[in-house]
Amino acid sequence: MHIGIDQLEFYAPSTYLDLTELADARQVDPNKYLIGIGQSQQAVIPVTQDVVTMAANAASRVINDENRNKIAMVLFGTESGIDHSKSAAMYLKRLLQLPDNIRAIELKQACYGATAGVQFARDYVALHPEQQVLVVGSDIARYGLKTPGEVTQGGGAVAMTISAEPALLNLDDVSTFRSEDIMDFWRPLYRTEALVDGRYSENVYIDFFKAVWANYQSQTNRHIRDFEAFAFHLPFTKMGLKALRAVLPEASEQQQSQLMTNFEASRVYNRLVGNLYTGSLYLSLRSLFDQATLKPGQRIGLFSYGSGAEGEFYSGTISDKFDVEASKAWFDHYFANRTQVDVATYERLFKQQLPNHDVLLDTRQDDARFVLAGIKHDQRQYVDREA
Ligand code: COA
Repeated sequence: MHIGIDQLEFYAPSTYLDLTELADARQVDPNKYLIGIGQSQQAVIPVTQDVVTMAANAASRVINDENRNKIAMVLFGTESGIDHSKSAAMYLKRLLQLPDNIRAIELKQACYGATAGVQFARDYVALHPEQQVLVVGSDIARYGLKTPGEVTQGGGAVAMTISAEPALLNLDDVSTFRSEDIMDFWRPLYRTEALVDGRYSENVYIDFFKAVWANYQSQTNRHIRDFEAFAFHLPFTKMGLKALRAVLPEASEQQQSQLMTNFEASRVYNRLVGNLYTGSLYLSLRSLFDQATLKPGQRIGLFSYGSGAEGEFYSGTISDKFDVEASKAWFDHYFANRTQVDVATYERLFKQQLPNHDVLLDTRQDDARFVLAGIKHDQRQYVDREA
């Protein structure tokens, strides 16, 4: 029996910032952002979207009348949680009208949370092949105005169903992981912006990738020649390029060029959206599926990294049912219909945070199906415009 990723959908708000304009405003050479960081645009998140609404906007496209009653668990990866106690998964479960005989849980370990979800889901489906698990990664990446991390902001959500005989990726049995208590990136409870030791986090990311890749090879006896492509966690797309370059010398010259071509395919969407934290690896996987030319049976390697730090390498093969036309069309439409905001508007939206008292928000500018309409009696008020 194959188990793996059956559906993989994405949502981010329709407003975005062009990073050439940001470079001009910050008096930086635009090529530093476009080439040195590897980002061209970033999603700008309005106050009427949070991790719950973004997750609902993505997940409503993978839940339908056919699979609603098969979902056994909702595993919600995020590091931008909205409550210290109640999980974002519980709100999501209600918004998606999922049945009550379900587990709904939030998973946190920086950008690694959704990968924990995928692995837990795979184990569950192995025991309960008739059921499915909804795994979500939803985040808002905030570093602060005029900080070095500003160019690596972004936000959005991915939603996946993990099932038996999946339509996209059949997961291999072996995955290798590593964890170490370090301080490369963190966000204390009293802060709305992350703290990061950028260079250190880049170095740890590469060290973790090399360690879990070596461990994977020794456990499976597979080598780089067994891989058609790699998908990486992409806090900014240059990070994935650095990781790929760390293993490229293991490949023949011809394979190096094919891995580079597929890497370019894997960063098309991330370059235009920015960092999704938990969702980044999976947006990159979606980009690879849609933008590369892949065939059933080809093997993809996935590297997940969450600062603090947890790293995992796992792999899967393209399913016989693999078809990407609908997803490509969705992304073409999405990118063609976004609204660019100037730097002044981005800064205003960035500062417009939810107050810690009751408020009614103006949702007229937000075209999403699920929106945050305000706070009443300290409870977030979510609206499904199609209900
Ligand atoms: N043209 C092309 N490249 C240029 C350039 C130009 N005009 N100017 C600079 N660059 C390159 C630099 O050489 C450097 O490349 P390298 O990383 O290959 O050495 C890159 O652009 C970044 O420049 P640098 O001066 O190091 O950037 P910075 O000090 O502003 O910080 C980060 C960059 C990535 C460290 C910072 O944005 C950050 O901390 N981001 C968050 C990281 C993160 O998310 N970590 C946690 C998750 S893994």
